[in-house]
Amino acid sequence: MDEREEYVGMRVNGEVKQVKVAAGEKLLETLRRYGYKSVKYGCGEGTCGACTVLVDGRPRLACLTFTRQVEGREITTVEGLGKFGALHPLQEAFLEEGAVQCGYCTPGMLLAAKALLDRVAEPSVEAIKRGLDGNKCRCTGYGAIIRAVQRAAAVMSGKAGVRGGWRGTRGDGGR
Ligand code: FES
Ligand code: FES
Repeated sequence: MDEREEYVGMRVNGEVKQVKVAAGEKLLETLRRYGYKSVKYGCGEGTCGACTVLVDGRPRLACLTFTRQVEGREITTVEGLGKFGALHPLQEAFLEEGAVQCGYCTPGMLLAAKALLDRVAEPSVEAIKRGLDGNKCRCTGYGAIIRAVQRAAAVMSGKAGVRGGWRGTRGDGGR
C-alpha cells in the first residue's frame, strides 16, 4: 500500500467497512469508488447539497468531508434507505408527487428529508423548507418536494396510506 494511503473503518448502511483512502481524500470520492453511486457530485464546493449523506443520522456534505473524519461513524446513503427491496416511504412519496425530474438532487433531498422526519414527525412547511435549505433543485420549483415530504410524514405517522388519495393540506408554499 502506498504510504500516503490508509484504511478507515466505518459502517455504511449498517455494514462494517474498511475503506482504503488516499491522503486528503473526501468522503464523496470514497463512497462512489466503493459503489455508493447514489451520492452525487454537483458543485464539489458545498453549495448544492447533491452529495448529502447522513453521518450518525445528521446530514453532511460528502464533498467537504475528509473520509478520515468519519472513522468509526455510521454513514447512510440512499442505497440503505429502503428495506427488504421495498422503497422507503419518502422514496414512494417523491415518486407519487412528481418530485423527481432529472433526479440529480433527489438522493441528497431524500437524506436531508429523512434526517428531518427522524427528528420531527410532522414538520410544518417552514420546517421542511429549513430542513432542505442546503439542497438545491433546478427542476421542480420545490413545491412537489415539499408535498412529498408532507406525504411521507403522513404515511410514517400512520395518517395516510402509501399510494394515492392524499393531498397536502398546508400548502406547498414554493421555496
Ligand atoms: S457536491 Fe457537495 S455540496 Fe455540491
Ligand atoms: S429533479 Fe433535477 S435538480 Fe432536482
